[in-house]
Amino acid sequence: MTGPSEPGIAAELVSDPRRAAADSFRRIRSTLGERDTSVIGVDLDALRCRLAALRAAFPESVRHAVAIKTMPHPKMLAHLLAQGFGLEAASLEEVMLALDAGARPSDLIFDSPAKTRAEIAWCDAHCPGMLLNANSLTELRRYPEAPSFQVGLRINPEVVTGAPAAYDVSTGRSKFGVPASHPQSELVSASVAAGVTALHMHIGSQVPTCDAHIDGVGRLLSLASVIDRARAATGDPRRITTIDIGGGVRAEAPGVFDLMASYGERLASEREALFGYEVRTEFGQWIHTDAGWVATRVETVEDRAVPMAFVHLGADFFMRDVYRDSGVPAGVKYGFGVVKHDGRVLIAGAPAVETQTYDVVGPLCFAGDVLARDLTLPVLEEGDWLVIVGTGANTLGLWSSHCSRAVPMVVAMEGERADVWSLRRLPG
Ligand SMILES: Cc1ncc(COP(=O)(O)O)c(C=O)c1O
Repeated sequence: MTGPSEPGIAAELVSDPRRAAADSFRRIRSTLGERDTSVIGVDLDALRCRLAALRAAFPESVRHAVAIKTMPHPKMLAHLLAQGFGLEAASLEEVMLALDAGARPSDLIFDSPAKTRAEIAWCDAHCPGMLLNANSLTELRRYPEAPSFQVGLRINPEVVTGAPAAYDVSTGRSKFGVPASHPQSELVSASVAAGVTALHMHIGSQVPTCDAHIDGVGRLLSLASVIDRARAATGDPRRITTIDIGGGVRAEAPGVFDLMASYGERLASEREALFGYEVRTEFGQWIHTDAGWVATRVETVEDRAVPMAFVHLGADFFMRDVYRDSGVPAGVKYGFGVVKHDGRVLIAGAPAVETQTYDVVGPLCFAGDVLARDLTLPVLEEGDWLVIVGTGANTLGLWSSHCSRAVPMVVAMEGERADVWSLRRLPG
């Protein structure tokens, strides 16, 4: 296993993330006002370990961008930039967020599948050196003849990913990228004509093994050779210089870095040619998942067939879990702890902790707003706080303004230090 450069910190993190998050919450609890019924925590120590492990998994020359959409808080973007990471934007708005956070255009990759002509022109005028990955040959034809940005082309390598259907973008009907099965002569001549110097893939999210990634990179490398040969034949001195392998490695348990380490190792041994190119990555979930927790107040506990605990976060924050899965996987996917109203930290399964099964429901006005069913928790009372860990990815960034509830305060924790990144605010 390739670990982060600070194994001491990693060991502490894995000891019990639920307890660590509960302790962080207890540290800031006295600063909350009555209306702060939830708090979003960012664990900068866990993030530091992830970023170190990502760097350790790949050769030093690889340039890592982090997907903005996964955790788009402006302070997070500034933090990542300050650590020497780039950013991957999925919309022009994300490009602007990144620039506002201090990014140089050369730190950025712009991947939206629906770039307008005006957006492309804006990038040409304002973002020299940024990598723009065209999603299709139609988009490629919209690019100016000699753009100030680097021209990339997204390829759908059409590999079997094993990702959940909603996040699998390598299928035959995917809206992303030019399918690898597209007539090659057209693909190659369009790339040569448009001055493509980068090939990009992102095969999906929550991809469970590295096999599909390894296959996909192989397809990109073959295509790069074909484009380069065709270009050489025309006397054009340009070549494919950059391979952008996207993101997609599924999140690992806190303190575990094995899947990413083995991806890096397999690329080095099975796709050695890759490292003859400038390599760029765009990971999201693997980086952010265990770098976030939330604490939400138990408003009431109702005596129902299964006792029901009402908390202050539901489909607004856990959008994917609630809308896609009616809360059931949320009970499996996340870790839960309780901070009692008197400050005690209780974890189900710890000695002498009395437990009860609950349906945990959110505050929104629709029946499906269920965070978890049949969840075993320490016995809950009004005024306790439910602490949930593993919530750092695709939560705040997907905030739903249904019922117009306020976005909670965001606090970043680093060791003993707490830094309020933003106060509770109304959505929109
Ligand atoms: C183009 C692109 N790159 C990177 C990512 C990040 O993916 P993940 O969070 O699975 O690593 C996404 C996620 O949707 C994406 O669409």
